[in-house]
Parts: sequence; structure tokens; C-alpha cells
Amino acid sequence: MEEQQKILNTGLRGVTIASTRISDVDGNAGRLIYRGYLVQDLADRASFEEVAHLLIYERLPGEKELEQFRSRLAAERHIPDEMVAALKTRPSGALPMDILQAGVCMLADHDPDIREQSREASDRMAVRLIAKFPVLLAAWERVRTGKPVVSPRTDLGHAANFLYMMGGEEPDDEIAHFMDVALILHAEHSFNASTFSARGVASTRAHMYASVSAAVGSLSGDLHGGANVRVMQMLERIGSVDAVEQYVNDELDAGRVLFGLGHAVYKTDDPRAHILAPMSEKMCTRIGEPQWHAISKKLEHKGKEIFKQRKGIDIYTNVDFYSASLYYAMGIPIDFFTPVFAVSRVAGWTAHVIEEQFAGAAQKPALYRPESDYIGDYCGPEECTFVPLKER
Ligand SMILES: CC(C)(COP(=O)(O)OP(=O)(O)OC[C@H]1O[C@@H](n2cnc3c(N)ncnc32)[C@H](O)[C@@H]1OP(=O)(O)O)[C@@H](O)C(=O)NCCC(=O)NCCS
Repeated sequence: MEEQQKILNTGLRGVTIASTRISDVDGNAGRLIYRGYLVQDLADRASFEEVAHLLIYERLPGEKELEQFRSRLAAERHIPDEMVAALKTRPSGALPMDILQAGVCMLADHDPDIREQSREASDRMAVRLIAKFPVLLAAWERVRTGKPVVSPRTDLGHAANFLYMMGGEEPDDEIAHFMDVALILHAEHSFNASTFSARGVASTRAHMYASVSAAVGSLSGDLHGGANVRVMQMLERIGSVDAVEQYVNDELDAGRVLFGLGHAVYKTDDPRAHILAPMSEKMCTRIGEPQWHAISKKLEHKGKEIFKQRKGIDIYTNVDFYSASLYYAMGIPIDFFTPVFAVSRVAGWTAHVIEEQFAGAAQKPALYRPESDYIGDYCGPEECTFVPLKER
């Protein structure tokens, strides 16, 4: 009973619900690893394609394998014409994450493996989803702004091609590299809300696309992937370095959340924020708008300080904090920040769906099925007596 009480109302924090070989977050040490490799090493030395291969195929690719993997991704860089036509029927103000979630379900219609349940078929579906997310989103950005959809380039890397299809111009090496690093940093993060959503759906033996569309919905929320959009809106509202302190006090007085700060797992700096911060600084300086980085820096400092004074606890920047000013300075539309997160995280989601499908009973029972604590009414010691509609 005591144990049961401890678990109630924790949102599953601290409760281990399955084993995984994909990633580990040590929230106290500020350490994140993907299949044994430190995320810092991967960001420094690998490409997003290598990381996606690592997540899906459980090992870093050799040179030839990487070449083949890149070619497979490039060959899948297209979406059906019917989907582009369908995008043209959507209102231009539609939320990009809704477009993405609906798009994932439409992609299922066209996947030749959709009824297959083999590991090989799931691998192929994962590769298609990773390849098509940027294509679908870039097509939507072009359609909603009344511009012609840009055909993909097979000679560009994953990150560079995404930027090319969004903006219609080939990005320079620095911007393409920053996007590549950002994609690596967001690719995987153990049993966060969206990954748990994907795994919960996969545990019912629903297919890869059903699982990934659930994850997209989950990522869209402000407390998860949607936080990067809210961070940028916050920076815009603050407007200047001098206004930071007042803003922090006002928000906390009003009981509102400071976006990009705090984490359910990290109790120290998120290692990804340390890599994103200098990229944000460089890009903001490069576009002649250093204020976005400067406001972020001051907000980090004052947010931590004031939070500690008021609540007596430490708070740290999370992955969304500096990615906001970085994406902004890279020219990504603000409401596309969360979709960019999804372009990366789809690699982690699909790896988790595959693990859920094929890991076997050693890691957990087949189906997720937690308990709840019913705190609703009974009409007495027994259930309520049903009263017919006309008599109520
Ligand atoms: C992510 C988040 C939901 C984690 O919340 P959590 O698991 O409750 O984290 P903690 O246990 O450390 O929070 C302790 C307290 O600080 C509050 N808190 C945490 N982060 C906060 C923030 N950024 N702004 C204001 N208050 C915050 C919590 O609400 C909680 O308050 P309570 O004790 O009155 O319930 C929370 O930090 C948050 O809302 N952050 C902003 C949104 C964000 O950036 N999300 C992206 C996460 S990657």
C-alpha cells in the first residue's frame, strides 16, 4: 500500500517501466548517451545520418554502410503527389505539427510494407519516415507561403537538403553544419512523453506510422517539444536585456512557466544546452541580431538566480532554451521550431518502436497497461443506480 501511494500522482517520474538499449539519461550527472556514445562526441564527430543509423541499426555505420544509408535516405526524399495536392487544401494558418501528424497517417497509405510485421519491414519504414519528415514539412512551408514546392537534392546531406527545400537556396556550410548538430542533439532522449506515446501505441501491435503519429501529437505540447516556440515568443516579449529581471519576476508572480528552464529528469545542466549556446551566439551575431542570444544568456542567469531565491531549488536550461534563438537566427519560421525537433526525433521514435516490437518479453510484458486510482463518486457503498433519461 505504501509503495502504491508513492507511485500515485508522480506522472511516472522515477518509475522504471521497461528496459531499453537505445539511450540513457543520467539526470544528476548531466550525461546523455545514445547506444553507449556520449551525445557530445556524436555532435562533435558524427553526422545526423550516422546517428540515425546508430539508433535504428544499433551500431555506427562503416564507410560503405554509411554511403548506402545516405543513398537510401536520399532515394526516399519524396512524398506522393496526392499529398502535396492535399496540403494545398489545408488552411494556411494550420499548425505545422497538425500538418505533420496528419501527414504521417497519409504516408502510411503509401507504404508498401504497412501490413508487414518483420524487423526488416520496420527498418524500411523507419528509413522512409526519417527521409520524408523534412520533405513533408518543407513542402508545407512552401505551400502555406504561396511558393512553389522545391524538389529535393540527392547530392546534399539530410540537414542541408531540409534547409534547401524550405528556403529554396542551398545553405552555406556553417548553417548546414549547425542544423546537422541540432538534429543530432534532438534525436533521442529515452522515455520522454512523445517516445512513451510511440511505445504505448506500438505495444498494442499498431504499426509504425500509428505509433509515430501519436508521438508527433505528444511532442507538440508546450511542456515538451512546443517549448522551443514558447522560448522564442518569450524572448520577443522581453525585447531587451534590461527587461529580463522584471519579466522573470512578473512571470513567477503570475504563476506562469519560464520556458526552456527546468526538466523532469535533469537536475543539473542539460549537456545539449552547452553545445547549442555557442551556436546560438554565433548565428545571432552573424545575422546582426545579437540581442536574442544576449537576452537568453541573461534570462538563464536571472531565471536560475530568482528561481533559487523564491523556491529554494536549482533550475537549469534545457534543450529548448538555446535552440530557439539558434533556429530563429538560421531563418527557421518560429512555428517550425517544434517540427524541426520532430525531423530529428523521428530517428529516436522509430528506433523505440522497433525495440518495442522486437525486443521480446525479457524487457517488459507485451502491452503497457498502468493502473489508475479512481477518485470519482460512488452513490453509496455500491455503484450508482442508473436513472432513465426522462426521469433525471
Ligand atoms: C519540464 C517541466 C514540466 C518539469 O517539471 P517538473 O517535473 O515538475 O520539475 P521539478 O520537479 O524540478 O519542478 C519543481 C517545481 O518547480 C516548478 N518549475 C519547474 N520548472 C519551472 C519553470 N520553467 N518555470 C516555472 N516553474 C517551474 C514546477 O512547477 C514545480 O513546482 P511545484 O513544486 O510548485 O509543483 C518544467 O520544468 C517546465 O514546465 N519547464 C518549462 C517548459 C519546458 O521548457 N519544457 C521543455 C522540457 S525539455
